[in-house]
Amino acid sequence: MTIRTPLFLAALLAVVLSLASREPGAAADATGPREVRVIWTESPQTTAVVAWSTTMGDDAGFVELALDAPSLASGTDTRRVDAQACGVYSGEHDDLSDLRYHHARITGLEPSTTIWFRVTTGGVASRVLHFTTAPADDRPFAILSGGDSRSDRAMRQAMNRRLQAIATARPDVLAFAHGGDYIRNGLDLGQWWAWLEDHQLVTTADGRVLPVVPTRGNHEGTGPLYDEVWARPGGAQAEDWFATKLARDVLLITLNSETATDGDQRDFLAATLQAHAGVPWKLVQYHRPIFPGVKTPGRAKSHWQPLFDEFGVRLALESDGHVLKRTVPIRGDARDDEHGVVYLGEGGLGVAQRTPEAERWYLQPPGMSRSAHHVWIVAFGPDGIAVEAIGVDGERLDTARIPPR
Ligand SMILES: [Fe+2]
Repeated sequence: MTIRTPLFLAALLAVVLSLASREPGAAADATGPREVRVIWTESPQTTAVVAWSTTMGDDAGFVELALDAPSLASGTDTRRVDAQACGVYSGEHDDLSDLRYHHARITGLEPSTTIWFRVTTGGVASRVLHFTTAPADDRPFAILSGGDSRSDRAMRQAMNRRLQAIATARPDVLAFAHGGDYIRNGLDLGQWWAWLEDHQLVTTADGRVLPVVPTRGNHEGTGPLYDEVWARPGGAQAEDWFATKLARDVLLITLNSETATDGDQRDFLAATLQAHAGVPWKLVQYHRPIFPGVKTPGRAKSHWQPLFDEFGVRLALESDGHVLKRTVPIRGDARDDEHGVVYLGEGGLGVAQRTPEAERWYLQPPGMSRSAHHVWIVAFGPDGIAVEAIGVDGERLDTARIPPR
């Protein structure tokens, strides 16, 4: 024991130092893969992108997967997927000039299955993490929804800790739909790096990661950096719209309010809603609100809202306004409890909150509005969709239920 104790202490110190180097705000040149995130776009039952960052040269690296942690540790029954994309991030930042992105698209997964994984670049492995694939059946599950995490870093970190607490308490929460405006200047690599570091706070103590379903906001700009962070969601550079079949009965369509909202994008929305006409729970997310709590409606209103109404969208997840709001069910420009769409939002993950214009007709009871940082829990079950707004201290700010039709 007298010999082993110093070795044990040295090993413990090494572990502590290694963990400390991964805290947000640590130097960007710490060795090893960093800022590991999982991204869902199409087919989250079978497919996910694992993305990470390094400063270790042009080794693209790889992901190792297993169905349990011991298998991953022992190297038995593991699968290796090489990163398909790797390059230097486009943004300029003196201290991060060699920071690289790595993207590994993983296919062939099974639904409702917990995937244990780690990433390796330059012979250095990340910590072991895990996430659960989306269900293919009608079992209950939930997602988090929120946006606008750009300006107040301390509040962003506090909200991320709240997201972590929710993920820890709620294993049914599978993913995190971010509504855009991650940072102030989407062309600034330093700001993205800080956001990605802060995003690690959402990961639970036992390594559970919430896959991100990303939305482009106006502060992301049109440059390539967004697509390098999120692995070009939707496939085409700077388009970033796609459909995510979250479960047998749930479709989430992510739209991009920061580019042309008619033309190809409107056609995509119409075709996707048509193709999924029989899916009972159709949701959309996009950045600029169509029924805002404080601003004027986004230009997408005339192009998208008629399709939401025509095809029975039930819930629209909006951001950008920096208020908490839930509208009455809306069809056209009137309340319609039977056929209306509820618009939830709108951006409270780390930006100063505004005072909503609470007298607007669509914010009247049973709708609501207030000024509060928040994240929405959107839970799907046999009784419909239960939505719940949670504040930074865990307080319940609002709750409502959207019944089946
Ligand atoms: Fe915005």
